[in-house]
Formats: sequence, structure tokens, C-alpha cells
Amino acid sequence: MHPRFGQVSYEDAGTGPALVLLHGFPFSSSIFQQLVEALAGTYRLIAPDFPGAGSTSALSRPEEASMEMLADLVKMILDQEKVQQCVLTGHSMGGYVALAFAAAFPERLKGLCLLHSTAYDDSEEKKQARIRSIQFIQTHGSELFLKQMVPGLFASHFAHTHSELVNQIVKQSQRIPAEMLIGYYKAMLKRPDRSYVLRTLKVPVAFIFGKEDASLLLEQALTQVSLPSDSTVHILEQTGHMSMLEQPRLWRLLHYFMDYCETCLAGKT
Ligand code: MLT
Repeated sequence: MHPRFGQVSYEDAGTGPALVLLHGFPFSSSIFQQLVEALAGTYRLIAPDFPGAGSTSALSRPEEASMEMLADLVKMILDQEKVQQCVLTGHSMGGYVALAFAAAFPERLKGLCLLHSTAYDDSEEKKQARIRSIQFIQTHGSELFLKQMVPGLFASHFAHTHSELVNQIVKQSQRIPAEMLIGYYKAMLKRPDRSYVLRTLKVPVAFIFGKEDASLLLEQALTQVSLPSDSTVHILEQTGHMSMLEQPRLWRLLHYFMDYCETCLAGKT
């Protein structure tokens, strides 16, 4: 039991250089199961559950959730596991946390991968959409909200051909308490623009986007990719916001990026 976070659960599999996977909203570390299985033969995979997800306690005051607080949770796990440095991959909201982590603890990073995520803060339109989502959850409850929202994160052909998997993900997301979902929406609403982190970070940065991502439009996502001094961009066809499930070969990109970060660190060519 941690005095600040209560019970904290996280996946920890494999040995070797550490790759930390941060899940997005409204998911848990289990979203990365396929990636963990594919990469644990070569790397150490650590995937925390944020409060209310997996077996991590929900916050007693969900309104205190922030990207900085979640970054502190990640640091606490790394300290506990004696991981000095890692490559940090954040999916969507997990990417916002990864950027808060990079701002606070840059010395702990060998590389940063933003998976369907952005360093920019919310546009006015996105802010309004989040406020409407909060109101919908308050009025109709989170079950209906998630049933309607989660399938839209997948490319439409995938959602149609994999309806069982999508329903399973909806059910998993419904385990997160409604107050935590609202807490995360408020936390995302108040997160600052962290494009300066991309500009100042001294380690390689990778971006992975889906061409059919309705949550993060490719055109907007691409405006950040020239900010880092060392940047790699992968644009996946026929992919929405959920490449860890939509693209079974995503692990190859992360494998490549891990290898690249290790090589850069060793000063090899
Ligand atoms: C996520 O997948 O974490 C969310 O789509 C993030 C967001 O709403 O900005």
C-alpha cells in the first residue's frame, strides 16, 4: 500500500532494457497484453494501471487527478523496481502522462514514444467535447457512455470485423469508476501544452499514428513531428486510435525503436 496512491498494480514481464507502457483513457495495462507477450523475450516490459484501472485503487479525491500526479506514480514504480532509465511509450492519455514525466524527470529517459498522442493541449473544440462527455456520464452513467464511445476509437472496418474483441474492451473499460473517468477528463482538460518538451528533449522521440484515427486527426498530429531533434514517424494504414489491438505488428516498430534508443545511448553508429 502506498500512502499517496493506495494499492498500485502493474504488469512486469521479461528482462533486459526497460520499456514502460502507459495506457490511455479509459483503459488499463491489459490493453498492451499482445505487445507484452511479443516483446518480453527481449525487453523488460512495465505497464502500470492508473488509479481505478486494473487493481490500482481509485483516488479518494478523483478531482485531484493530473498528468503530473500520474507521472509521479510512474516514477514511484520505476524507483521501486530500481529502473534507472527506460524508454517510455504512452498511448493517448498515457502520452500526456509520458510528456509530464519527461518534463519532470528527463534524466530517466532513453527515448519517448507517443502512440496516438500529442504534446499540444486541447483545442477549444476538444475542450467542449470533453465537457459534453462529463455531462453525459453525470446524466446517463458511464456504462452507456463507454458503450458508445469506445467502438469509435477503432477504424470502422476493424470495429465491424472484430465486434467481440471491441465488446470485451468496452466491458473492461466499464470497470473504471465513473468518478475516475470524470477526474481524467478534467485532468486532460487542464493539461498544459507540452510541445516545449519535444523541443528540448535530448533523447530520440517516435510518433505512431493511425490514418483512420477519429480521436487524433492525422493532419493535426503531424504538426508536432519536426519539434524533436531526433524524430521518427510511423503512419499506419487502416488503423484508428488502437494500434496495439488493430495492428498485431506494432511490436516490431517498438522493437526497432528500443534497439535504436539503446544504440544511441551506447554512442554506436
Ligand atoms: C485516450 O485514448 O487516452 C483518449 O482518447 C485521450 C483523449 O481523450 O485525449
